[in-house]
Amino acid sequence: MSRPIDVAVLGSTGSIGTQTLEVVEAEPDRFRIVALGANSSVDLLAEQALRHRPQVVAVASPEAGAQLRGRLPSGTELVVGEGALVDAVDSSCQVVVNGVVGFAGLDVTLAVLHAGKRLALANKESLIAGGPVVQRAWQTPGAELVPVDSEHAAVHQCLRANDVAERVDRVVLTASGGPFRGRTRAELVDVTIDDALAHPTWSMGPKITVDSSTLMNKGLEVIEAHELFGIDYDRIEVVVHPQSIVHSMVTYTDGSTIAQLSNPDMRLPIAYALAYPDRVATAFGPLDWAAVGPLEFGPPDLEAFPCLGLAYDAGRAGQTAPAWLNAANEVAVAAFLASEIAWIDIPDVCKGVLERHDGASADSVEAVIDADRRARHVARQMIERRT
Ligand SMILES: NC(=O)c1ccc[n+]([C@@H]2O[C@H](COP(=O)([O-])OP(=O)(O)OC[C@H]3O[C@@H](n4cnc5c(N)ncnc54)[C@H](OP(=O)(O)O)[C@@H]3O)[C@@H](O)[C@H]2O)c1
Repeated sequence: MSRPIDVAVLGSTGSIGTQTLEVVEAEPDRFRIVALGANSSVDLLAEQALRHRPQVVAVASPEAGAQLRGRLPSGTELVVGEGALVDAVDSSCQVVVNGVVGFAGLDVTLAVLHAGKRLALANKESLIAGGPVVQRAWQTPGAELVPVDSEHAAVHQCLRANDVAERVDRVVLTASGGPFRGRTRAELVDVTIDDALAHPTWSMGPKITVDSSTLMNKGLEVIEAHELFGIDYDRIEVVVHPQSIVHSMVTYTDGSTIAQLSNPDMRLPIAYALAYPDRVATAFGPLDWAAVGPLEFGPPDLEAFPCLGLAYDAGRAGQTAPAWLNAANEVAVAAFLASEIAWIDIPDVCKGVLERHDGASADSVEAVIDADRRARHVARQMIERRT
């Protein structure tokens, strides 16, 4: 039997990270954990390290680093501080799962691609904010980017199923519609944090769950699809599909549509990104056709959920506009989760920030980081004025 693939899981304590460890545990002959990394979840990191005995554990928070000292198995190196997760990319890993949430994942995305390794990308924010810079890093010999986001993993599989890429007419991303599907804007005025965190079909971290409720997640995924598959915005369509069984589709010029279907289980796209071009032997989320029931599809409501339209606007503007939108959204979602603004204010903050985008190019990492910083500043000012 061939040697197991060495895997680094950065953001190992989150929803994607813990599910990645479940995939590895289900396929122990195939995958081996060599690095783990997170921000500050000391107890869970220590437990994961004892279970997997990696070469390296990386932790961004210095306080968490101090608490972790002495709690790791012998032979595991501890690296601490802002650049610690990037240091972990230097381990013997062949594949890195970037499961960090938000713009904080940009360093990891760039480091993996620059190292010429495979990036299993869950952290969509880095690709959206840093599009042109990430594209350049992706050109590094050996660098591979396989999406973990279920919709993009679906599109990746649909494109593989047909070898005439130039005959793609459109990519169709499915959206569950989130917990507020079917509500009008007036009915969304008083929604609470708990309402926004109650996703009907997926169990995920808090930021992406709120993004799903505003349809910003789908908007970010539209930009992600453009970056991953090089397809124009006019040919990326979003369709609401409440059952989350069809994870996305590709329509060809002859009218044929190829779709990928499974139960909503993130371990499937995670395993796909780890094993590609092979497939794992363990089934995650297989369908029982007798139990599937009707599958519904319909158009998204752009008036009640303006974030989707804002993402198309930012994507079409290009350069640092997606970084501004992403930063505005991260600040607005954090403010909503801290009860500083209402849910209905999230799109308003994003729109207001995007209107003040300064048109800067995304020609370097520094330019992207600067764009993120400026947009966050504008977003905070707008929120302070509201509160
Ligand atoms: N969850 C899903 O099903 C899903 C599906 C598709 C795509 N995604 C994408 O995957 C990413 C992760 O989502 P999630 O739902 O897994 O989030 P999550 O549950 O909130 O986990 C986030 C992870 O990132 C770590 N982290 C946060 N800030 C960090 C920093 N500054 N430096 C280093 N590590 C940091 C956290 O560490 P601590 O625990 O120590 O704070 C945690 O391990 C997001 O980009 C999301 O959009 C998620």
